[in-house]
Amino acid sequence: MSTGATHTGGALWGGRFADGPSEALFALSRSVQFDWRLAPYDLRSSLAHLSVLESSKLLPAETISKLRGALKELQAEVVSGKFVPVDSDEDVHSALERGLTEKIGAIGGAIRAGRSRNDQVATDLRLYAIDHMLAIASQLTQLCEVIIAKAAEYSDAPAPGFTHLQHAQPVIFGHEIAKHAHAFQRDLSRIGDWLTRTSVSPLGSGALAGSSLPLNPKATAAELGFAQSAQNSIDGVSDRDFVSEALFILATIGIHLSRIGEEWCILATTEFGWAKVADAYSTGSSIMPQKKNPDIAELARGKAGRLVGNLTGVMTMLKGLPFAYNRDLQEDKEPLFDSIKTLLVLLPAVSGMIETTEFDRAKMAAAAPTGFSLATEIADFLVRAHIPFSQAHEAAGACVALCEKSNRELHELTDAEFLAIHPSLTGGVREVLTVAGALSSRTTAGGTAPAEVAIQLKNLTAKNGEFIKLISSQHAAFSGMMSA
Ligand code: ARG
Repeated sequence: MSTGATHTGGALWGGRFADGPSEALFALSRSVQFDWRLAPYDLRSSLAHLSVLESSKLLPAETISKLRGALKELQAEVVSGKFVPVDSDEDVHSALERGLTEKIGAIGGAIRAGRSRNDQVATDLRLYAIDHMLAIASQLTQLCEVIIAKAAEYSDAPAPGFTHLQHAQPVIFGHEIAKHAHAFQRDLSRIGDWLTRTSVSPLGSGALAGSSLPLNPKATAAELGFAQSAQNSIDGVSDRDFVSEALFILATIGIHLSRIGEEWCILATTEFGWAKVADAYSTGSSIMPQKKNPDIAELARGKAGRLVGNLTGVMTMLKGLPFAYNRDLQEDKEPLFDSIKTLLVLLPAVSGMIETTEFDRAKMAAAAPTGFSLATEIADFLVRAHIPFSQAHEAAGACVALCEKSNRELHELTDAEFLAIHPSLTGGVREVLTVAGALSSRTTAGGTAPAEVAIQLKNLTAKNGEFIKLISSQHAAFSGMMSA
């Protein structure tokens, strides 16, 4: 039977093989079609590696300068698209080494001294992840700005608040909108924490055991912008926590976006009719001319599934994997690339949708007191008159039952009816049976009283400013990386 060997093998290995890789093996193991996006990071890390080869005097000055010149040329050609992978390239690392040898001959292979694809790919992927998580973080701050502005626009608009999707208590609608900014600011702080753990350079770990050559992993780490180098070379090449943790953060952002999506879908229904999504952020139907569909909201809801799937895939791949490099680890990339790409497209669309959605104030205000949403006010009124809450709750429930029976709202009960239900339900109870009264009474920190909402919005804005500063300082640390 034929071995099916048709390839010469990646230029990076093959010395001990009598036969080249089979077509089937090559097709399975080839990753350049997706890992090519690591090329700019691979070139950066090659230049940093070259610096230590230079300072350790491992290579003659002439070789160093040829390698540096060729790497810089490749940097420009990768950006311009002049240098691209070819069919016989196995992965980004072999493609770029081919590029080097095409430019300067066999000496191009000198760059590989003291370095393995194992530490190289781990370093490249960290750089890629940091760069793109910073880009996501930057988009999140823009989304927060949009949410805060929309919340401010409706910071005097009453609306029913819901639990179990049933009218619960009236709230300020700006308070409802602002809650989403808190969720995204938690995601921003997750990215900050993640960055602390991810800012570790594996370069110098070699295949797994470090190097016998006089490398300087700490200097390479510093040149690349990492806060430190790996403290254990085996962990350095094995650790993909930064991938699964990034995927968790990205999935959590996706879940937050999907919850916005669900709210928008509900609020834009004819039955609710609160949200008017701008035409530019809506789609039509090919058959029903009247249709205006909230597709962005639906895609936000739908994409969360794929983001969670990417996280699940990588965690399952890592489960039970022996330490040091195993080829399974090549499966870490596509899910990460996909989650990042997904959010970089989704976040601006959701931002635009929120920014341009208008809400029907009159409809929301009219709905605010309905569904007996002021019943808690009656109970709280009685508590202030020193009635135990259990009794107060009973009495308020009796008021609701009477209203339901007689098809009335709470404020329509007569003084006599209130007193018959509980002797402490004096005429004063009417004062709390207004939406404005209920709203302004919710003065606990984080509550819906207009003054509290104003404080909340101020804090959100200040925090957003802090995140913007953090992103720009990290951006500077990694020498201007930040691609979107
Ligand atoms: N393409 C590989 C990956 O993505 C690079 C590392 C290959 N290392 C090896 N020892 N085969 O993981």
